[in-house]
Amino acid sequence: MSKTLVISGHPNLAESYTNTVIIDSLQAELDDVSVRCLDVLYPDYNIDVEAEQAALIEADVIVLQFPFYWYSVPALMKKWIDDVMSFNFAYGPEGDKLKGKDFFLSFTIGGPAESYDPLGYNHFTVEQLVFPLQQTAYLAGVNYHKPVYSHRMVYIPNIYNELEDVQARARVHAAQLVSEIEKVTLSDESRLRKFVANWFAQFDLLPEQDDFFVQSLAEDVVMTMPEGNFVGLAGFKDWYQLARQTFKPDCVHDIEQFELKATETGYQIELRIRLKAETYPDSSMKGETIELPVNETWHVSLDEEGKVCIHDYKVVPVVS
Ligand SMILES: Cc1cc2nc3c(=O)[nH]c(=O)nc-3n(C[C@H](O)[C@H](O)[C@H](O)COP(=O)(O)O)c2cc1C
Repeated sequence: MSKTLVISGHPNLAESYTNTVIIDSLQAELDDVSVRCLDVLYPDYNIDVEAEQAALIEADVIVLQFPFYWYSVPALMKKWIDDVMSFNFAYGPEGDKLKGKDFFLSFTIGGPAESYDPLGYNHFTVEQLVFPLQQTAYLAGVNYHKPVYSHRMVYIPNIYNELEDVQARARVHAAQLVSEIEKVTLSDESRLRKFVANWFAQFDLLPEQDDFFVQSLAEDVVMTMPEGNFVGLAGFKDWYQLARQTFKPDCVHDIEQFELKATETGYQIELRIRLKAETYPDSSMKGETIELPVNETWHVSLDEEGKVCIHDYKVVPVVS
């Protein structure tokens, strides 16, 4: 089951009319959700970076929940981003801690939809205004999903809107976000994307024990590799030992492309992987540092519990 982490960036939730409704609805409707209210945790804006990063690492789905302030996030949430999305956590050579997590912006906007238009008084679309957040997500390697936002969410008694109306919109907003989260976490595609990311994260480590890999392989798996063909679990084990004798641990498999096609028995996954690795001097790669793009084609099946089984695994180096 997926864990959702909601980071609330409202600077004063006690006086919120809509963000509180959204947060309460998410807590009621999502199975495994935790909420970190930055205004309660950090009234002095002094963010506990370690605690925030630990919470992010635990999560599969990250939601930044905030009221739109001056076309961006409130200062408290900006401070959280500046402090928490740090070097070697969210970016940099070891900054892969958020890679592959699903990421949503969820925010309430005061102005009406028609104002966020080249001809409206806000001139820019909402999507344009959140480009810096979208790029932050790209740099951190999270899966950036279409943001969920609602207009006309400001309530000032006798001036702007009716309380029942803004709170009804907040409930619709929460239901839409729940449905988007369920779509990405329960779909076969999302399961397979996560599986592939996890598979290569393990390959980066090249652990001595191969149990992690073997549990996801069919007994009659066929592996067509640049080094030759390997059949069955024994074949995989032979190939894995060869890989461990060639590549040093802590290599990097970047997943540059992922395409999925349904087949009669499950799915075909087409991947472009870029392997960056140090090799051992006594291996066929003679101690060279390599950067090798390969195309991979996998045939997999998924059982009812979402467990993946690989039946066919083909790797072809990309020749320029
Ligand atoms: C400091 C501040 C800045 C705001 N900036 C914007 C803005 O740039 N665009 C907009 O449409 N609404 C803006 N609003 C309205 C808020 O987005 C709106 O009040 C909020 O989403 C309502 O959420 P709440 O009920 O949870 O406080 C602003 C409100 C405040 C207090």
